[in-house]
Amino acid sequence: MAAKIVPSVLPADFARLGEDCLALEKAGVDRIQWDVMDGHFVPNLTFGPDVIAACRKVCDVGFEAHLMVERPDDLLPLYADAGCEVIIVHAETLTHAHRTCGRIRELGARAGVALNPATPVSAVEHLLDLLDMVLVMTVNPGFGGQPYIATMEPKIAAIRQLIDAGGFDVELEVDGGIGPDTIGGAAAAGADVFISGSALWKYDTFADGVADLRARAEAARRR
Ligand code: DX5
Repeated sequence: MAAKIVPSVLPADFARLGEDCLALEKAGVDRIQWDVMDGHFVPNLTFGPDVIAACRKVCDVGFEAHLMVERPDDLLPLYADAGCEVIIVHAETLTHAHRTCGRIRELGARAGVALNPATPVSAVEHLLDLLDMVLVMTVNPGFGGQPYIATMEPKIAAIRQLIDAGGFDVELEVDGGIGPDTIGGAAAAGADVFISGSALWKYDTFADGVADLRARAEAARRR
């Protein structure tokens, strides 16, 4: 699968979210990630479904909701209805993971499970047949601009091995501190979808950033 670049809009100008979404779409991003935070699972509070639904009207690029929330089951229909085609829940918040992942698919979205840095691979080992994506957090979630945790690379490689050995059609996404100096390590370890927030906003243009990050990821995968 070609490397996918998916910006987090956490660094966006919240007074111009729709314009930033349109600019990101024009820059050639593969999807846009909405970091949904409830102030409980993580110490930050961000986007409700109405904000996402408003931006859904101004662009066509796919949206994914990264639910960093304590009670994701209650919120699944809201983010599916807001127009998120991928809904990612955290393994640490799931009592009945099979039921939650099945519910996401019943709502017409693709199901992703995210693992915090300390959460082992075993948390998704028996879920891969129900998933469309595994998200390996390379920071402790809650804020943008944190340093990349390189010790996650063996974990990325272990999940890549599980996906490939089982022949699962599952994206392997990484999120946190992904930029020009770190995307190569994550790609070489086996990731194929890359969330970038603060690093992407540092490029002169979104198009420059998307092109550079994608090229770096592809080069690392060829090595
Ligand atoms: C969790 C968030 C962030 C964000 C990306 O804190 O999910 O990881 O998306 O932030 P950067 O790319 O700035 O590390």
